[in-house]
Amino acid sequence: MEEEAILGVIISWNCNRDPIVSILEFGAVGDGKTLNTVAFQNAIFYLKSFADKGGAQLYVPPGRWLTGSFNLTSHLTLFLEKGAVILGSLDPSRWGIVEPLPSYGRGIELPGGRYRSLVGYMLRDVVITGDNGTIDGQGSVWWEWFTSHSLNYTRPHLVEFVSSKDVHISNITFLNAPAYNIHPVYCSNVHIHNITAYAPPRSPYTVGIVPDSSDSVCIEDCNISTGHDAIALKSGWDEYGIAYGRPTTNVHIRSVYLQSSAGASIAFGSEMSGGIANVQVEHVYLYNSFSGIEFRTTRVEVVTSKIIISDADLLNVNTAFVAIGDYGTHPDEKFDPDAFPYQEDHAAEHHRPKDQFCRKFHGPTSSTPWTCSNVSGYSESVFPEPCDELKNVNTSSSCFSILMNPNGGAATAILR
Ligand SMILES: *[C@@H]1O[C@H](CO)[C@@H](O)[C@H](O)[C@H]1NC(C)=O
Ligand SMILES: *[C@@H]1O[C@H](CO)[C@@H](O)[C@H](O)[C@H]1NC(C)=O
Ligand SMILES: *[C@@H]1O[C@H](CO)[C@@H](O)[C@H](O)[C@H]1NC(C)=O
Ligand SMILES: *[C@@H]1O[C@H](CO)[C@@H](O)[C@H](O)[C@H]1NC(C)=O
Ligand SMILES: *[C@@H]1O[C@H](CO)[C@@H](O)[C@H](O)[C@H]1NC(C)=O
Ligand SMILES: *[C@@H]1O[C@H](CO)[C@@H](O)[C@H](O)[C@H]1NC(C)=O
Repeated sequence: MEEEAILGVIISWNCNRDPIVSILEFGAVGDGKTLNTVAFQNAIFYLKSFADKGGAQLYVPPGRWLTGSFNLTSHLTLFLEKGAVILGSLDPSRWGIVEPLPSYGRGIELPGGRYRSLVGYMLRDVVITGDNGTIDGQGSVWWEWFTSHSLNYTRPHLVEFVSSKDVHISNITFLNAPAYNIHPVYCSNVHIHNITAYAPPRSPYTVGIVPDSSDSVCIEDCNISTGHDAIALKSGWDEYGIAYGRPTTNVHIRSVYLQSSAGASIAFGSEMSGGIANVQVEHVYLYNSFSGIEFRTTRVEVVTSKIIISDADLLNVNTAFVAIGDYGTHPDEKFDPDAFPYQEDHAAEHHRPKDQFCRKFHGPTSSTPWTCSNVSGYSESVFPEPCDELKNVNTSSSCFSILMNPNGGAATAILR
């Protein structure tokens, strides 16, 4: 058992479970060609019987294990040995179709359902770990279909947990996700530690980790390099996200190396209509990225509260900080441009200072000047030197706030 404090929430998981059962016992063949979906499904079905006896471990030895989507089960550890690679099938029919998420109302890329993720589902107390084993989505086929508009449904993710609790993912590598690498949605107590996620620079809208309408999420010691965002926090889309009403809260991101070719190293939104609150980002290294930290809201959305970013090093980042108030698309014409995502129990958030950033940037290194508009405030240890409005030194505070204009249009940054 390991115990760890995540913003005051103690979660524990059982890493060393007995019995340990190898996927070989279910007839799997690790030649990279044989489809092993049934072997995985049978293994999980068998291991379900240990759920009420403390759980079990499914051991994946070295080899290339081609498979379609399979469900894990609660109280399970999926262990990928060094040299073990789970390969996503290149045949989309092996992934299956699931209903759209209620907080999105439809698939994010196309109306209707979406492909099921390779691994995941509604679980409790589950661990995916290993000795740097790999889950490879073989995403290039999906990227081509996406780019050529040949998809019939929204692309799948590599690992998705829906309505799950106590999820731990560590010590493995994720490659070439069709879309997101790890997508916890409607989850609670999620710990992602020491993983690597990689998708090539031109892979369209590939994202590393997407905590979505989830609470108590800790992401630490990870290296993520993707085509689009490295980490994106979300909470549903327009009226569907508002109606579902589950914000992303209590997220702690620390000691991560993030690179994003065409998106942001850390993105808030878009699709954040359920709200985002209590996010702490510290000791992060954001490099070779299009933008460093980006807030994206559409006209019907506002960021709710308390986001603290500290000790961020930015190197070779095109734009360090971006706030966009009228971003992205809508699921349909039913969105209410005057709607706000506040819930009754969120009312207190209205009165808090919004989106605080305690800053200590050591970058960016480029000599591009800052672009400032509607900004007042102060800065400290910022290079290149910011615009005149931000040069004042005011030692009473080392934070600045960004106030989003709830009616859309340009965001207003107030630094104090
Ligand atoms: C996985 O579990 C979900 C939820 O229990 C279920 O709807 C789905 O059919 C299962 N999928 C497979 C491939 O077993
Ligand atoms: C991270 O995972 C790798 C295997 O992927 C392991 O060798 C290494 O010791 C782990 N590091 C930490 C700090 O857990
Ligand atoms: C982990 O595996 C990936 C490929 O699957 C490899 O590129 C990387 O070097 C490995 N890391 C370690 C620490 O062995
Ligand atoms: C989408 O549907 C068409 C018509 O059924 C089919 O020919 C095509 O292969 C499908 N695309 C993908 C990526 O599965
Ligand atoms: C990850 O690897 C580290 C270093 O080898 C080890 O201490 C830790 O227990 C591993 N995590 C899990 C969940 O096995
Ligand atoms: C991430 O990269 C840093 C710097 O190269 C390295 O020290 C760290 O071990 C890496 N972590 C993982 C999970 O690969």
